Amino acid sequence: MSEKKVNKIGILTSGGDAPGMNAAVRAVVRTGLYHGLEMFGIMRGYSGMIDDDIYQMDSRSVANIIQRGGTILKTARSKEFMEPEGRKKAYDNLRKRGIDGLVIIGGDGSFRGAQKFSNEFDIPCIGLPGTIDKDIAGSDFTIGFDTAVNTAVEAIDKIRDTADAHDRLFIVEVMGRDAGYIALHSGIATGAENILVPETKTDIDELINSLTEKEKRKKLVNLVVVAEGDEYGGANELATIIKKRLPQADTRVCILGHIQRGGSPTCLDRLIASRMGYHAVECLMNGKHNVMVGIVNNKMHYTPLDNAIKAKQTIMKEWLKIVKILAS
Ligand code: F6P
Repeated sequence: MSEKKVNKIGILTSGGDAPGMNAAVRAVVRTGLYHGLEMFGIMRGYSGMIDDDIYQMDSRSVANIIQRGGTILKTARSKEFMEPEGRKKAYDNLRKRGIDGLVIIGGDGSFRGAQKFSNEFDIPCIGLPGTIDKDIAGSDFTIGFDTAVNTAVEAIDKIRDTADAHDRLFIVEVMGRDAGYIALHSGIATGAENILVPETKTDIDELINSLTEKEKRKKLVNLVVVAEGDEYGGANELATIIKKRLPQADTRVCILGHIQRGGSPTCLDRLIASRMGYHAVECLMNGKHNVMVGIVNNKMHYTPLDNAIKAKQTIMKEWLKIVKILAS
């Protein structure tokens, strides 16, 4: 715990955008202003810190954005910030404005940068988990996950209609990088027959057997939801294998892609973003530094940035068991 008083807070969004980032920016800015602090928006993540693309924000700067996807601060993945020279440039730009605290909304890569930066320059950093992948330990939800999953569910429901009409086997690929949460949640919610995630080994023989068995039983729809990070490499690669082993099946592929990153955030994402944003400023003011603000069991939860980086959540393996039973 540091007693250093924070007067000027910089806020940035970094890494892949996630619906709800704007709601978090709004909450941070308005909470800071409420406490009489000066608030600064940093454009394009760490790149804006290096390029001095920083502007002072007032209450109106965040008006009418709670419902908007994307991020008004834009985002980027900065290679330059990984180098000591880049971080020094960034620090000099903060120092000349007197910015003495940072809120970083992003994923584990962004937190890794924050951790290094605060160690080198003694600038307290607070992380807010903003990623559709939900691959960060220390929070039941990440900002953007719920919206992404709902977008996937809406899309897969539509695919189910056409799959049913044509008696086709559909393989739907969802995002998640090397995590399977979007696949698991959207797959269960759409009644997918098989869900493949990177956290568990995919047994291709078992998958083919289950598809064959379902075909024999004249199951109306056969949907496979695969996470992009699955060891078989995603929907196209999987379809090649399935087409070889099950040539009689009329197989189609649908890759949902970046639609999962856009759109107006759900109520849940707006709510958690608002709560986390508020508490980020409270943390900076109360000397609780270099933590990620999360929510666990509906209560605020603080994880040292180090742990938020290293630990990955474990996938709910029992959920996969449920899939087998419910899709039978
Ligand atoms: O981390 C969010 C995410 O959307 C992942 O699910 C996906 O693998 C990746 O970003 C895609 O990144 P990009 O937009 O750079 O292609």
